[in-house]
Amino acid sequence: MKIFCLFFLIIFSLNGFTQCPIIPTPESYIIRNFHIEFDSEFRADSTTFNAENWNFFKKELKKVTSLELIHAEDDEALVSVLSLDDSMDDSPNGYAMSISKRERVIMHRSDASQFYALVSLLQLFEVHDGIVLLKSCEIEDNPRFDWRGLHLDVSRHFFTVQEVKRYIDLMALYKYNVFHWHLTDDQGWRIEIKKYPKLTEIGAFRDSTVIGHYSDTPRAYEVEKYGGFYTQDQIKEVVEYASLKYITVVPEIEMPGHSRAALASYPELSCTSTIKPVPGLWGVFDDIYCSKSESIQFMKDVLEEVLALFPSEYIHVGGDEAPKVRWRDCNDCQRVIKDNDLKDEHELQSYFIQQIDSYLTSKGRKLIGWDEILEGGLSDNAAVMSWRGTKGGKEAALQKHEVVMSPTTYCYFDYYQSASPSEPRAIGGYLPMKKVYEFDPIPEGLPQNLNKFILGGQANLWTEYIPDMQQLEYMTYPRALALSQSLWSMNKPLYEEFVASFVDYHEHFLQRHDVNFATAVHHPKFELSKSESGIHISVKSDVLTDEFIVTRKENGLNKGEKRISALDAIKLERTPPKEFKLVQFEVKSTANESLMSQDFYLHRLVGADVAIHPLPHAKFNTNGQLAVVDGIVGRRPWIGSEWLGFTEKQIEFTLYNVNSNFVDSLKIGFLKDNGSWIYLPKKVRVLVADHSDWENAQEEFSSTSIEEKFSIHIGREAMNIRIIVDAMEFIPQGLDGEGHTPWTFIDEIRIIE
Ligand code: ACM
Ligand code: ZN
Repeated sequence: MKIFCLFFLIIFSLNGFTQCPIIPTPESYIIRNFHIEFDSEFRADSTTFNAENWNFFKKELKKVTSLELIHAEDDEALVSVLSLDDSMDDSPNGYAMSISKRERVIMHRSDASQFYALVSLLQLFEVHDGIVLLKSCEIEDNPRFDWRGLHLDVSRHFFTVQEVKRYIDLMALYKYNVFHWHLTDDQGWRIEIKKYPKLTEIGAFRDSTVIGHYSDTPRAYEVEKYGGFYTQDQIKEVVEYASLKYITVVPEIEMPGHSRAALASYPELSCTSTIKPVPGLWGVFDDIYCSKSESIQFMKDVLEEVLALFPSEYIHVGGDEAPKVRWRDCNDCQRVIKDNDLKDEHELQSYFIQQIDSYLTSKGRKLIGWDEILEGGLSDNAAVMSWRGTKGGKEAALQKHEVVMSPTTYCYFDYYQSASPSEPRAIGGYLPMKKVYEFDPIPEGLPQNLNKFILGGQANLWTEYIPDMQQLEYMTYPRALALSQSLWSMNKPLYEEFVASFVDYHEHFLQRHDVNFATAVHHPKFELSKSESGIHISVKSDVLTDEFIVTRKENGLNKGEKRISALDAIKLERTPPKEFKLVQFEVKSTANESLMSQDFYLHRLVGADVAIHPLPHAKFNTNGQLAVVDGIVGRRPWIGSEWLGFTEKQIEFTLYNVNSNFVDSLKIGFLKDNGSWIYLPKKVRVLVADHSDWENAQEEFSSTSIEEKFSIHIGREAMNIRIIVDAMEFIPQGLDGEGHTPWTFIDEIRIIE
């Protein structure tokens, strides 16, 4: 192959390798320390490209580099695109690339893999002062998982066809290949169904929308008609559009729960036939489809039209969060239970889903549903999408069912990504990019021979608090880059390396695409560690080169300011008995812009030895044991970074070496937010001992009147203290989340002497 010298220039001829700018990181790569310089054109032989790939690359190249992609005959082409021998590679989506002084070759196995190679190629360009440079490299790459998904809820807030296409465009840049389109929910039905026109005439619109947070009291509403839907032609357009970027659209038609919009349109499909409006409030509603045959027929009719629009192998039928109260009180539902020898309403849900499973199977498709479809027995061919942790996914894989992992702990991009007080309102929960990066779709403890049942993973974008495209991009990016590493990369580097590559290349790449991405990786965080006499704190962002100015006040008095890098540690000492110190830090950028502040209440137990059993849930466990003795009082509205969260019935906190001559009382901070299923415990017991033989503790104190700022009188000396917190096993009827396990949230434990 002939290379035109005119088009390349060695910028660095040094040996040595640099970091990899491609995200997700390729399976193997060598990035050389020299670049090839381009003028204004990039020449390639268009006949070796898939036509759509050519169009895609032409548009993208212009956007990223301003270069014009020009057709050239083979011997004048700058890049040769070759098909790869089938036997050379184990994945049809794998590709290889060699860019050097002598050759520029892309090898691919399929149109999709050619596309992935071109996406990688785009990320190898840099533009400096108008000069376009391409990195010299050797790359071989294959995807780790077949299901690399992003979900979008268009019910809570509606997104136009143009916006959905934009969402798909951005997905493609990070090698996502499944768009899970959540088309129906309580607050709006969004897909035209010709047989049931009222679904969109009535079900696609609501009269009001709650403003503020669901948990606010009192709640406020914006009284204005809100809604929209996609015509079948528009759906086809989106499906076709996505396919050109090698993205499969998996539709979700929710059943039997999250169906208020459908029931507003056809109340006869509910258990009570009562007319209720499309709700403008978020949450889980008791009214769900009745399990009678008319509802099943309705679902099949709807699905028949859905199947004609979506060629995807998998069809998502929801199945989550379906309260059983209406079914318990419904003659029709009870008759179905009796006629089919079902044990209870859980088996009835399973029976409901089984009928849909048989229908989809008969049409050559596969049913996928949220992990609740395991309850009452998984139907034969169903695949499971595991959201309530990884347990459901693991269980399904053990039963040899296919699984997509999407646990809230790592994959719910509607959670906060930063603890900064200026963060826009989100549903709750704390999911910084670093946590997303820790995600591994293979559940812990799954026998290796069953790994093949894990198809992959996806992030979910529920849109209660995502009203528009700007906010959608903000919540999705850059966390979607971190997730792409877990889904595609066989060779995931350390988080710090990934962040460096993000900051050095992808902030710019995303800017070129006008993405409203979050800058949370640059936000300062307080990292805490225990010391002999209290705690050490460091102030750093995920980007290790970032520096901050920290000002300090003690009991209101100014103590000056200091420039801090990631390596600096600040010491905070616990206070002697009866003393108390409030230390307040304000963190500013080096340009003196105020970024955040944090108060530390330096009480007697700060940095104390504490054991917690069981350990907090991975979702709400930012500072481990230290979180209850770190001097930080949890904020409201809560974000999740300052609270430890538990789902167990009993939680024990043991404080060692308290060594107090007189503990007047013990103060414990709990959180109550019933709307988020966070409840106060039923009972708190305190054991006091001067040894650690808890069977023979000297004294026990207990209380059943628990408040958020809970205090219990002790009135004696104490060496060691054990606090036993008893939570409710299930949320009682009539309360938010009834029948589910409540959360217990705790922020701090203090003694008053
Ligand atoms: C879900 O988040 N309810 C699947
Ligand atoms: Zn019923």
